[in-house]
Amino acid sequence: MSEQPASNPAPAPHQRRPRYSGKNPRRFEEKYKERNPQRYRETVAKVLAAGKTPAGSHRPIMVTEILATLAPQAGETAVDCTLGYGGHAQEILLYLQPGGRLLGLDADPLELPKTEARVRALGFGPESFTTHRSNFAGLAQVLAQNELTGADLILADLGVSSMQIDDPARGFSVKHSGPLDMRMNPQRGQSAAALLEKISPTTLATLLATNADEPNADTLAPALTGKKFTTTSALATAIRTELPRLNKDTQDLTIRRVFQALRIAVNDEFSALETLLRNLPACLNPGGRVAILTFHSGEDRRVKKAFEAGLRDGLYADIVQEVIRPTAEERNANPRSAPAKLRWARRSV
Ligand SMILES: C[S@@+](CC[C@H](N)C(=O)[O-])C[C@H]1O[C@@H](n2cnc3c(N)ncnc32)[C@H](O)[C@@H]1O
Repeated sequence: MSEQPASNPAPAPHQRRPRYSGKNPRRFEEKYKERNPQRYRETVAKVLAAGKTPAGSHRPIMVTEILATLAPQAGETAVDCTLGYGGHAQEILLYLQPGGRLLGLDADPLELPKTEARVRALGFGPESFTTHRSNFAGLAQVLAQNELTGADLILADLGVSSMQIDDPARGFSVKHSGPLDMRMNPQRGQSAAALLEKISPTTLATLLATNADEPNADTLAPALTGKKFTTTSALATAIRTELPRLNKDTQDLTIRRVFQALRIAVNDEFSALETLLRNLPACLNPGGRVAILTFHSGEDRRVKKAFEAGLRDGLYADIVQEVIRPTAEERNANPRSAPAKLRWARRSV
């Protein structure tokens, strides 16, 4: 076959649009308009106005409050430990210019290149913005590899992104069935399905209670262990079957808590957070600021304790007094912001 001359590339093969029944698409794969915001601005605006997150994107939470606490200045060095869609990063980057830079870390090798391309397209070149496929537990190593002794501001927005939750193929979704995976980095570690197959009932009961305060942990654990649940919906059905006397809303809440507990275990989230909290003071420049957004009590408790201990030990000069919550407007506009809690600390000079 002859090659096409560079100036006349072969046209891209025509791809059929996914067909769906009803007025609006329901499945992630059908939401091709939401996943192409450049081309379908109106569709995306409608989804946002309805208080929803367009498929394949993530709405940054408490941006105003985070900018106020981190106070980014021109020329400073920032680290976003949880780059995600780059929503917070792109706002912070504006304040770092001229002369500043932001390092964006994320464990997810699938979303990271897309976010890099999106932030580049906004005009941030490699001198001001770099991405690093790394767990934030390795923040100190990332700084050292980049010949930095510390950062002026550090942000961590914990948990998973909307891109990860909403894509059934990632296996986090309670709403749409997909393989029971839940790994932020699908190239490492074991999936939630593999974990359930191997774990003992006693260990699972402890994990459900510790990671999600699950009141039905002892009933659920024996029913969910030693089995092969290949899909998220198979696991949800097993949870419902085991708790027939609960009404549908309480069953749904239980399913969410079990999914949260498994996700935390699969990604070793508490241990990564504890390592980050331990290393933070040494990763901040004198006077540097850190802000952490948490989404459940297990995370918030750890952040609160670490900041209080850092203040007592003189590592931090100041920490937040009252936890900061999203405004009522934000909670209405973006219900995913509702559980968020923001805490900050400032390193001593
Ligand atoms: C809530 S999202 C961040 C959204 C981001 N602030 C934005 O505005 O687009 C959390 C992100 O952190 C990543 N993540 C979670 N735990 C991590 C860890 N221990 N190390 C690195 N990345 C992590 C997830 O893969 C996900 O992309």
